[in-house]
Amino acid sequence: MTYEVTFLPEGRKVSVRPGMTVLGAARQARIGIRSRCGGKAGCLMCKVDVASGGGTAGDGLSPAGLLEKRKLAGLDSSRTRLACQAKVTGNAVISVPEDPLKAAVRRQLEKAEQDEDDLGW
Ligand code: FES
Repeated sequence: MTYEVTFLPEGRKVSVRPGMTVLGAARQARIGIRSRCGGKAGCLMCKVDVASGGGTAGDGLSPAGLLEKRKLAGLDSSRTRLACQAKVTGNAVISVPEDPLKAAVRRQLEKAEQDEDDLGW
């Protein structure tokens, strides 16, 4: 038995066995999710958003364990999960946030383009 995990915004899909972590599924799908702690819930760099719920029935992921809940305490969104801790238990749709460094570069480039437009270049 396998489940389908879809990663947004690319829309890339991968079939994985139940119990695989979202981080493992992402690697199988060649989706880049940052990780520094080796999947031990230490770095919090692997945060992703689930399409619905937050480890509740129907979102295709295992409920958040105590460690993950403690690590994510204080976040506004109940949809946020640690990819290294959330396990696939059904078909799931995962939104991967843009890498902060890439986002900063993109914003700088957009600003430079806007400045050029404003100057009429
Ligand atoms: S990989 Fe470090 S917290 Fe998930």
